[in-house]
Amino acid sequence: MSPDLASERRARIGILISGRGSNMVALADAVRDERIPNAEIAIVISDQPNAAGLAKAAERGIETLVIERGVRRRAEHDREIVAALSAKNVDLVCLAGYLRILSPEFVAAYRGRILNIHPSLLPAFPGLEAQRQALEYGVRMSGCTVHLVDETLDGGPVIAQRTVPIRETDTVESLSARILAEEHKLYPEAVSAVLAQVAIKA
Ligand code: GRF
Repeated sequence: MSPDLASERRARIGILISGRGSNMVALADAVRDERIPNAEIAIVISDQPNAAGLAKAAERGIETLVIERGVRRRAEHDREIVAALSAKNVDLVCLAGYLRILSPEFVAAYRGRILNIHPSLLPAFPGLEAQRQALEYGVRMSGCTVHLVDETLDGGPVIAQRTVPIRETDTVESLSARILAEEHKLYPEAVSAVLAQVAIKA
């Protein structure tokens, strides 16, 4: 990190989840251990009130917020999320199992500062059940990808990837577990690398 950045305030990360939240936990633990240096988790937002990740964040003393979509249009839902992130002065948004496509307005508000993690080697197998897609296609190698988020599903420039070989005996569950273990290492590394580049405004 440059001496300039070291003297500035800590980078504030906002995390969006919809479910289990294991990648959110991996990021929170990396911030705590300073494997992601000079950063804090400003807020964890879920669109699902029953997301298991909410309790995991709260246990770690992280502020949580539920913002449900309800019957609203996507742009309206996203406007409320962007307002909540802005209110917490978030510098970097990390999607961690957030099961919605962001509106163009959301992407524009944080362009170049939204990351996602996906359980395949993008651009192969975007969308849901990427591990099942990889097994059904018969590829011998899959993995995970951290990418910048744009308006498309699992699109946007790739930041980092890690490969996971597929075994003859793999099931969706066994492959998903091995990929997830790599996700938990890759996401903190990628966030750390991105934060070293992102300007943190005082
Ligand atoms: C992960 O496999 C991630 O790559 C994908 O959704 C899953 C979320 O898991 N986008 P978790 O909620 O982080 O445990």
